[in-house]
Amino acid sequence: MSCDEDCRRRFCAHVLFLFIVLCVCFIIAVLIARPTTKIAILNANLTRFELATSPTTSLFFNLSFTMSIGNNLWHDDEDYQDMEIACYYNNNEFDSIDLGNFRLHVMKTRIVNHSSSGNATVNLTSNEVDAFKRSNETGYFDIEIWLQGKRIFEDDYGYETKYLSYQCKLRLQLTTSQNSTTQGNFMPVKCH
Ligand SMILES: *[C@@H]1O[C@H](CO)[C@@H](O)[C@H](O)[C@H]1NC(C)=O
Ligand SMILES: *[C@@H]1O[C@H](CO)[C@@H](O)[C@H](O)[C@H]1NC(C)=O
Ligand SMILES: *[C@@H]1O[C@H](CO)[C@@H](O)[C@H](O)[C@H]1NC(C)=O
Ligand SMILES: *[C@@H]1O[C@H](CO)[C@@H](O)[C@H](O)[C@H]1NC(C)=O
Ligand SMILES: *[C@@H]1O[C@H](CO)[C@@H](O)[C@H](O)[C@H]1NC(C)=O
Ligand SMILES: *[C@@H]1O[C@H](CO)[C@@H](O)[C@H](O)[C@H]1NC(C)=O
Ligand SMILES: *[C@@H]1O[C@H](CO)[C@@H](O)[C@H](O)[C@H]1NC(C)=O
Repeated sequence: MSCDEDCRRRFCAHVLFLFIVLCVCFIIAVLIARPTTKIAILNANLTRFELATSPTTSLFFNLSFTMSIGNNLWHDDEDYQDMEIACYYNNNEFDSIDLGNFRLHVMKTRIVNHSSSGNATVNLTSNEVDAFKRSNETGYFDIEIWLQGKRIFEDDYGYETKYLSYQCKLRLQLTTSQNSTTQGNFMPVKCH
């Protein structure tokens, strides 16, 4: 079968059309797959982290961090309810912050600065206490910060609730007043 000039032109037009359709589909897919909320820990300082084993196993801490909560949507505000940040060491919650309800406007970010010190009773097995001691020797502790709550939004069926749960995994170096100047640069941590 031969193809004259006109036929070739039509063929090119079809290919071009298909290419444009594919591009549009790709862009839509990327936009849909984009997370609607972006969470990160921008900075954190751990200035006290000690374990006392009697009378109960308790963790004495002094932790401060900056969390950013961003609305990644450019077409809608986001409404959050019952939002809470909780800090964990080895599956033990030692600190929490109630953020309550708030709204984030289109492409806006809320910065939460938190600083607290205190003690919490923790439940660690003897193996986990040994792991703590090893971390204590290196000066690095693995801490998880969770942001949980729900997002309320309206769609064709009315108001919907989506439960949110973001985990931020941090490895923090203990800094004391003696060596705070040697503190390394904190690299922001994305939460998933
Ligand atoms: C916690 O650490 C910060 C920063 O090092 C310090 O300013 C603050 O006084 C500490 N708080 C307590 C109760 O030790
Ligand atoms: C952590 O400590 C550094 C140096 O003292 C300070 O610049 C930074 O603001 C602190 N970050 C937080 C979240 O407290
Ligand atoms: C949070 O802390 C950072 C640095 O310490 C500061 O620049 C920022 O203004 C603070 N934000 C709020 C909302 O307090
Ligand atoms: C532990 O924290 C509580 C307050 O949450 C305080 O009353 C208590 O004195 C603290 N314990 C020690 C040993 O510092
Ligand atoms: C402590 O943890 C162990 C297992 O990890 C569990 O069996 C036990 O009930 C826990 N104790 C408390 C007081 O939560
Ligand atoms: C952690 O290390 C400090 C000194 O770096 C030491 O005084 C303390 O006893 C250690 N704590 C534990 C639970 O091993
Ligand atoms: C600061 O000192 C503590 C305890 O002596 C140590 O565990 C930690 O690694 C030191 N941090 C830095 C940044 O050197």
